[in-house]
Amino acid sequence: MPATDLEQIVNLCKRRGFVYPSAEIYGGFRSSYDYGPLGSLMLRNVKDAWVRAMVQERDDVMLIDAAILGPHAVFEASGHLANFSDPLVDCTVCKKRFREDQLDERDCPQKMKGCTFTEARAFNLMFKTHAGPVEGEGTDVFMRPETAQGMFVNFANVLQTSRRKPPFGIAQVGKSFRNEITPGNFIFRTREFEQMEMEYFVPPAESAKWYEYWCQERMDWYIQYGIPADMLRLRAHESDELSHYSAGTSDIEFKFPWGWGELEGIAQRTDFDLKRHAEFSKQKLDYFDQATNERYVPFVVEPAAGANRTMAAFLLAAYDEDVINDEPRTVLRLHPRLAPYQIAVLPLSKKDTLMPLAKEIYSKLAKRYMCEFDETQAIGRRYRRQDEIGTPFCVTVDFDSLEDGAVTIRERDTTNQERVAISDLENVLRVKIGF
Ligand code: GAP
Repeated sequence: MPATDLEQIVNLCKRRGFVYPSAEIYGGFRSSYDYGPLGSLMLRNVKDAWVRAMVQERDDVMLIDAAILGPHAVFEASGHLANFSDPLVDCTVCKKRFREDQLDERDCPQKMKGCTFTEARAFNLMFKTHAGPVEGEGTDVFMRPETAQGMFVNFANVLQTSRRKPPFGIAQVGKSFRNEITPGNFIFRTREFEQMEMEYFVPPAESAKWYEYWCQERMDWYIQYGIPADMLRLRAHESDELSHYSAGTSDIEFKFPWGWGELEGIAQRTDFDLKRHAEFSKQKLDYFDQATNERYVPFVVEPAAGANRTMAAFLLAAYDEDVINDEPRTVLRLHPRLAPYQIAVLPLSKKDTLMPLAKEIYSKLAKRYMCEFDETQAIGRRYRRQDEIGTPFCVTVDFDSLEDGAVTIRERDTTNQERVAISDLENVLRVKIGF
């Protein structure tokens, strides 16, 4: 049974070192989180799984890593300066500020009597700072609110250096920043987060076809990595929900404990961004097809996902509680590609006689897999810990190993144990882990 309460995951994340509240020793920094030893490994695995599917296993998508800070001109052209805002109202009595579109009644959520609200004002969500030692005109810079603009402003560079022909994609994984009015639900909505975005440039007439294609591909990716199909849905945006650049968007939503929530949006951005950047930069941002002698501005289909939300969804879906030998246990049934560690190497005892062999096995396996070496506590408790952090396989080195040259592999999901010759260990694990 996946987790039904967000607190189950929040507690596990804190207890085991996945996610900590940021700046906790100073009382915390609201809605910011730090990823601990296990969380940083898992978050990296989520991003790697995305890059594997979107770049490595395809021959038509290239990866870039663009700057986080951008000048005024980029966000003027992209429309973010004019349009990337939430409508805010102030309560004239309690002086609190709310998003107008999230007030379902004209009643202050603080429940004070006689609350009235001001007219809505547009509040831009971009973080602004300045570059250089002197503040003033022309020094304003912005933290990017999406990674996407990096792909548009580098369209001509990538086209020229890679000699591609539409359809082709430019992908990026990295931090984005939004001054969210209502951050919350743990790592679901924060002001600093990581995106995994790809701009797929296509001939205009093929845009609808590729939109369908990417909606399906991306749904399949979440299922491949362990989210049950009945916890996912594809929901088309109503016209009043569409971003300023979109002619049609569908969200991939996950059934969070509080209801359906967006993991990813697949948008038809048309030629909006390339045309705007061409107009503002006075550069040519188009494609000349030598076969047809045709020059055109490609249309864009954009699958845009959030790494942190996706990690939360994988954790919630993988969470399970069962009973083994009359003892309750918590287990994260994570895909081996997503689990922080694929293998834990556990010497049965701390005695010096077992350590050299256990360390040797660990060193060999660690060349290929992320492994943990754990010699603390009784073996049963160590198995429980590995179950709770999602490690799919434990390798136990015992005193018989010194005699028979074999170790025990214990599987997380079934708790089955199997004796394997050390000489076969890497091959057996490779088959079991799947890579
Ligand atoms: N380039 C398109 C774009 O940015 P978006 O729907 O605003 O589209 C894409 O963002 C994804 O980024 C979302 O589906 C979500 O997973 C993630 N995301 C957006 N805002 C977020 C926030 N405040 N905290 C965490 N993730 C966020």
